[in-house]
Formats: sequence, structure tokens, C-alpha cells
Amino acid sequence: MKVYIVYDSEGGHTEALAQAIAEGSRGVEGAEVYLRHINDADVYELPDMDAIIWGCPGHFGTISSGLKAWIDKLGYLWAQGKLIDKVGAVFCTTATTHGGVESTMLNLITPMLHQGMMIVGLPGNIPANALYGSYYGVGVTCPVEGSELLTQQGLELGMALGERVAQVARKFTKEQ
Ligand SMILES: Cc1cc2nc3c(=O)[nH]c(=O)nc-3n(C[C@H](O)[C@H](O)[C@H](O)COP(=O)(O)O)c2cc1C
Repeated sequence: MKVYIVYDSEGGHTEALAQAIAEGSRGVEGAEVYLRHINDADVYELPDMDAIIWGCPGHFGTISSGLKAWIDKLGYLWAQGKLIDKVGAVFCTTATTHGGVESTMLNLITPMLHQGMMIVGLPGNIPANALYGSYYGVGVTCPVEGSELLTQQGLELGMALGERVAQVARKFTKEQ
């Protein structure tokens, strides 16, 4: 099954999270993972995918303009219903804990629902999530004074999301 991960990132934090998600997906048997920065991501690759995960830095509590501009290229695919029933999930990073992690993720989910996609979050039975995660996807706080791009917790959560999305997509592709 094919998993497409597309992200915006200026300072590398969201890119590091995207890489963790990709690593998590790659651990699932049969997963082919496509990891793309928005500058290299082609919307016409999406119809061939089983799962699509997109993410960005939170900008003023919502989607960064870079990723939003990319999402706004999906009109033709929407008109043709090309993304209906694809598994979807979202991620983001912000600089501060209450700087809009959840609002950004909810905003990232909205266009997926317009496309007819099936949203996968992270449930509480994933230990990393129950302790320090979120149910809407993966949102990681990356303080600007931090020495690392992504915390160990962020890495674990990213891998958990990637694994879960690939597992769910695998179930659907098996049953077809
Ligand atoms: C225009 C702009 C708006 C931002 N707005 C917020 C915000 O509302 N809340 C927050 O916590 N961080 C905000 N940030 C910080 C980024 O979300 C944060 O540094 C993020 O981890 C950067 O990801 P990147 O390294 O992948 O670019 C903003 C940054 C920029 C450039």
C-alpha cells in the first residue's frame, strides 16, 4: 500500500516530524512511502495513493500559507472525486505549547473531509499518545531555544502516527 507524506517546513522542525512519520509507516509490511516537501510534491501523484498525511508549521494557529497553497491545487482532484475514501492524517509543529497545535491540526483535517477522505488520529491506547500526545494527529511543540529539531517524544509520536496510518490503509487495501 502507498503512503504519501507532504509537508511545509522553513526551519526543519516539521521536516524532522515528517521523517519520523515516514519511518513509522515504513515499518509496516507492504508500505511504500513517498515523502515530499511541498516544493517537490505533485498533486497528480495523489490518486495513486492509499493514504495521505500532510503537515506544516502552525502559523498564527492555522495552516502555513505554503501548505495551504499546495492544498488549494487539489480542486481538480476534488471535482473528480479522486481522493474519496483515501486514509488521511495530519501533523504540525509550533514554537509554544499553547500556540495553536490543536487548532492547526483541526484546520488541516477540514480539507481532507471536503475531499471525502477518512481521517485517522491517534487513539489513547498508544502509550506515547496517552502520556503526551493529541487525538487529532501529531502536534509537537518545538521551542525555538531547543537544541534539537525534534524531541524524543515528538519522534515517538510521529512514528506512531506513521505506523497507524499505514496499518489502517493496509486493512482497507486488503479488503478490496
Ligand atoms: C508566520 C509565522 C507564524 C507563526 N505562528 C505561530 C503560532 O501562532 N504559534 C506558535 O506556537 N508558533 C508559531 N510560529 C512558529 C512555528 O510554528 C514553529 O517555529 C515551527 O516549529 C516551525 O516549523 P519549521 O521549522 O518546520 O518551519 C510561527 C512562525 C511563523 C514564521
